[in-house]
Amino acid sequence: MPSRGSPPLPSVGEGRGEGERVGAPHESTFAAVGLMPVTVTHPTKAVIHLDRLSHNVELLQGLVGSRPMWPAIKANAYGHGAGIVARHLIDLGYSTFCVAHVAEAAALLGAGLEAKFVILSAILPEQAEEAVALGLEPVVANREALEALDREARKAGTTISVHVKIDTGMARIGVAPGEAGEYLRHCRALSGVRVKGLMSHFARADEEDKKDAMAQIARFRTVAEAAREHGPLIRHMANSAAILDLPDSYFDAVRPGISIYGIAPSPAMANPALRQLRPVLDWTTRIVFLKEVAPGTGLGYGHTFRTERASLIATLPIGYGDGFPRNLSNKGVILLGGMRCPIVGRVSMDQSLVDVSALRGRVALGDEGVIIGRQGSEEITAVDIAERLGTIDYEILTRIGARVPRVASGT
Ligand SMILES: Cc1ncc(COP(=O)(O)O)c(C=O)c1O
Repeated sequence: MPSRGSPPLPSVGEGRGEGERVGAPHESTFAAVGLMPVTVTHPTKAVIHLDRLSHNVELLQGLVGSRPMWPAIKANAYGHGAGIVARHLIDLGYSTFCVAHVAEAAALLGAGLEAKFVILSAILPEQAEEAVALGLEPVVANREALEALDREARKAGTTISVHVKIDTGMARIGVAPGEAGEYLRHCRALSGVRVKGLMSHFARADEEDKKDAMAQIARFRTVAEAAREHGPLIRHMANSAAILDLPDSYFDAVRPGISIYGIAPSPAMANPALRQLRPVLDWTTRIVFLKEVAPGTGLGYGHTFRTERASLIATLPIGYGDGFPRNLSNKGVILLGGMRCPIVGRVSMDQSLVDVSALRGRVALGDEGVIIGRQGSEEITAVDIAERLGTIDYEILTRIGARVPRVASGT
């Protein structure tokens, strides 16, 4: 396992440029996505607070005791930068991670990370060769992928560990509970495959009414009991919501995602531990242009906002090309000078406009604007933005674009 002093990761679509504990700001690149090098002067960034990540993980580990936690770092660690997050979690002693796709694991392994990867989404048979070559642990639920993995593993003179997914109620992928026994018997007949885990996933654990979630646990338990004849399997089912509110779901390992990033899976959660979670990501930018405009000035594409009075307008170098939602046009706010300042006109690809008239005399070129995070006594969370747009915080975070450098802060 790498020590705390191991060299900085190169590139997985995020930088370790400007954080307090990082010396060489130009060492990271966006090579994984073929973009520009991270520079310290780039005015927009996502600051990843590693101390808060440690705190959240410790809190969750406290709930599940000594059971292994396999953090979900798919979708670029929910937008936080998979390299930065995985590296820190490895430093904390975690060694197995959940990603959605073979390509996500391949990028992290290619960046030098030493860890095991459970591939949560179904793979196609033609991905089996790569999964075997990389030593991944795919989730399996059909014969096609399973048999391709077996073939490729035998060809390579090895075995591949897989996790059999049982569909207890999500109805995305999974073996029907009634067919689990037969599927497991088939797995055992394949010498290239070793069934390491038996797993399932909740559809409604984040709701106040836990009836459906409890029924899923009961179905999973029945399958797991019957599966005992196939030897010891690691049974895993719990996502963040279940870790918080459904101790019966812990089984042998858990797979937290959103909660390690300091965010509640939904407003309906009961566990008071929730209030101790700390959001890991701050998203900031800086004013690159400031101007007074006359009353009646149309702002931005389509002039969807026209000033009613003389206004001081700040231009921020952030737009939908950075994952800043265009639907925040004339709707959202950004913190500047400790105040919630309205976005005026359309959010464009690279730039947005904010009315800072209330800050006249107290605002200057280069001042920091906070999209997600705190400034003074004000705070904007990913949840706030999601609620404004009628979506969930998961989406707001995962859409933060590759162009936004992720910068590690704290230890
Ligand atoms: C199969 C599986 N397990 C665990 C997780 C983690 O879920 P959460 O982020 O709600 O903790 C996910 C995320 O969608 C998932 O798909």
